[in-house]
Amino acid sequence: MLITNIKGLVGVHPKDKLLLRGNEMSNLPILENAWLLVEDGLIKDFGEMSKIPALILNLSSQISAKGKFVFPSWCDSHTHIVFAASREEEFAMKIQGKTYEEIAAAGGGILNSADKLQHASENELFESASSRLKNMILQGTGAVEIKSGYGLTVESEIKMLRVIQRLKANFPIPIKATFLAAHAYPKEFKDNHQGYIDLIIHEMLPQIAEEKLADYIDVFCEKGFFSVEETDQILKAGAKFGLKAKIHANQLSASGAVEVGVKNYAVSVDHLEETNQHTINSLKTSNTIATLLPSCSFYLGIPFADAKGLITENVPVALASDYNPGSTPSGNMNFVVSLGCIKLKMQPEQAINAATLNGAAAMEISSEYGSISIGKKANLFITKPMPSMAYLPYSFGETQVETIILNGEIYNG
Ligand code: NIG
Ligand code: FE
Repeated sequence: MLITNIKGLVGVHPKDKLLLRGNEMSNLPILENAWLLVEDGLIKDFGEMSKIPALILNLSSQISAKGKFVFPSWCDSHTHIVFAASREEEFAMKIQGKTYEEIAAAGGGILNSADKLQHASENELFESASSRLKNMILQGTGAVEIKSGYGLTVESEIKMLRVIQRLKANFPIPIKATFLAAHAYPKEFKDNHQGYIDLIIHEMLPQIAEEKLADYIDVFCEKGFFSVEETDQILKAGAKFGLKAKIHANQLSASGAVEVGVKNYAVSVDHLEETNQHTINSLKTSNTIATLLPSCSFYLGIPFADAKGLITENVPVALASDYNPGSTPSGNMNFVVSLGCIKLKMQPEQAINAATLNGAAAMEISSEYGSISIGKKANLFITKPMPSMAYLPYSFGETQVETIILNGEIYNG
């Protein structure tokens, strides 16, 4: 497939650039008036229209992208899209002024989702997650991470991970599975934390590792959820089974979550709505990525993460959706990128890099996805005609994504 007359080919990074930090995050190379050749599902070549080789102009499969931009697909490295039911009753409570913690304490929140998930069949969960994922893809997402964490029993956590495994087998995009049993303490373990941790370590982890159901391990390290010491114990157990960490950190308080993640070589620490200099210091000398989730701040009304501070301190920043029924009922990465600019004060170049190459890095797939580089997978989208690259985040709430290409083929859902 040949795409011609592209107004701007966005994110033309060198193939060996696997992660951006500091000033590099402001560098989003764009090739103007370009062509792009896709072969065998990969980006084969690209260049300027004025120098297009005569030979390829005869190709039968051609798309003209006159006035349009080509972006690498969004790489959404943090989602919880397997769930049994939406939670709009909590939406109403939230509007009345109840906080996320108060709603959770009143029997809402994660435990509410866990109750509903116990009663849903694997097929039902697969069907509803498939429809969410399809919508995300149609909005430009071309790689995704999905967490368990609404099971909270051996059986239901495994059920969730099997659903993710089926999604992997049925969708044409890379999917990473994260085991998040440490999302909340089930009621019966409210006063027996070690009992639940033992269940995670001795019952769930061995079975998950045996069946290769997860790529990562996650813990919601937060006051009222899992303490720093509990998180440390769970991450170390996960590491023994070969699962690297990607954790929920500093969402509601700067509790030491980032530091324990960094200490355990986390691939990413996610959320970071609450940070201080100590948090930033621990990150800037590590390889851990700070994954920011501005749609969650927007929906819950909690602070927005200090993206500028993190970038200034040389911390690699990624942007992801956090799509889940409780704190972020949206998987629209275009909106995430807009919020990255509007609320996190990232420049469009920084936000787009954070949602593409650094998002891919947060799933350890940036050698194959996340930029327009020769030899990478052709997961791209073509926009509607736009005046400039920055028009995409500028026109928040609108969609500029017009044509989706996955593995070199047009995807219609
Ligand atoms: O990332 N903070 C923990 N987990 C999710 C919310 C889960 C829920 O409320 O169902 C999050 O925001
Ligand atoms: Fe989350």
